[in-house]
Amino acid sequence: MNILVIGSGGREHAIIWALKKSAKCGKIFASPGNGGTGDLAENVLIPINNPEEIVAFCAENEVGLVVIGPEAPLVNGLVDQLVKANIPTFGPSEKAARLEGSKEFTKQICDKYNLPTAAYEAFTNADKACAYIDKMGAPIVVKADGLAAGKGVVVAQTTDEAKEAARDMLLNNKFGDAGSSIVVEECMFGEEISVFALSDGKDVIYFGSAQDHKAVGEGDTGPNTGGMGTYSPAPIMTDSLQKQIMEETIIPAIKGMKGDGTPYTGVLFAGFMVTDKGPRLLEFNVRFGDPETQVLMARLDSDLLDLLYTAATGNLAGKEVRMKDEAALCVVMAANGYPNDYEKGSQINSLKDAEGLEDVIIFHAGTRKDKQGNIVANGGRVLGVTALGQSVKQAQTTAYKAVETIDWPEGFCRKDIGWRAVS
Ligand SMILES: Nc1ncnc2c1ncn2[C@@H]1O[C@H](COP(=O)(O)OP(=O)(O)O)[C@@H](O)[C@H]1O
Ligand SMILES: [Mg+2]
Repeated sequence: MNILVIGSGGREHAIIWALKKSAKCGKIFASPGNGGTGDLAENVLIPINNPEEIVAFCAENEVGLVVIGPEAPLVNGLVDQLVKANIPTFGPSEKAARLEGSKEFTKQICDKYNLPTAAYEAFTNADKACAYIDKMGAPIVVKADGLAAGKGVVVAQTTDEAKEAARDMLLNNKFGDAGSSIVVEECMFGEEISVFALSDGKDVIYFGSAQDHKAVGEGDTGPNTGGMGTYSPAPIMTDSLQKQIMEETIIPAIKGMKGDGTPYTGVLFAGFMVTDKGPRLLEFNVRFGDPETQVLMARLDSDLLDLLYTAATGNLAGKEVRMKDEAALCVVMAANGYPNDYEKGSQINSLKDAEGLEDVIIFHAGTRKDKQGNIVANGGRVLGVTALGQSVKQAQTTAYKAVETIDWPEGFCRKDIGWRAVS
């Protein structure tokens, strides 16, 4: 089967790498792809806002499955357009994608189906939001309702900071439409965990867990990023915690969406705070995480193509996701300056040597191949240096050995990915 994968990140490289192992996998196209996907797939450029062109491409190239990596096209309803043209597509419909597209919508689902989460109220009026913040006191969390590229949440330590954030969003248009309504919620404490589950709209199966590192600096300091590293499984994930999360949150959410006439297909990525009262939902995302996917795919021992295709076509019942017993850890290498201004175009050398190390996989994110075939940096987060090991510690040691092998003075990484799991 030929497959089209939409996206250009490390997530998409990891998905393609895993799909490629399937005996049923034919040709893969990546749109737009990156310097790494080009070795496994044909990179093509199909305008994401032009569903007709995507449909025509699929017909011409006998594409039997489309996999959509990033959230924006999902929230904008690309799946609906492709499904209407009878193209099996992995990802939720526009209506189901509101689970990521609107934080207030998710809170309403939590209310309706009794999913454990922080107490909250939603506002479009700044005065009312400020009055609520004063009433609840700090610390308190202010969230822009819509997609804000991971920058729309303020965990405020004082009520003044919270009120400023609310005004920035509601009055000063800081996130445009995404911030024209906000959720103000109780601040929770504990360790965070990411949980992934596949659904075909009816059935749901657990995919795996991971923990990430959002801050740019060691010790989780400095501004937030798209993610500087991950590891899987999350050591705090026990069988009983997994069961509790599935039974209290994931399964009722999938059942609820189906009952509401907006069945959820694709991967549901749920972020939890594991509090002393149990796991509490922070948010849903409607796609694989980046860089969580890099560690999940490194560990995956099942046929990804079979899983994604059966999820897309309503036949997930009876399937299972097997993971290797090993742990995986991914260190993100980013261009100097990221997440602020950074330069593109520097050359990255010795990648082949790093890739040749045992248990190492290098996933590309912001890279491209130049005319001479050299890999050059083409984005903020550039490489996901991933390693398997008997423990998170061992995977960490191997991943950093690979990082040291890579010759790229214009890039940097955090030196402490996995610290929670190894200390
Ligand atoms: N209620 C909360 N209490 C404490 N921290 C929170 C809360 N909500 C969000 N956070 C913190 O803010 C981060 C981002 O929030 P999240 O809801 O995941 O939004 P997004 O990923 O869209 O930015 C979380 O990973 C968590 O660290
Ligand atoms: Mg989040």
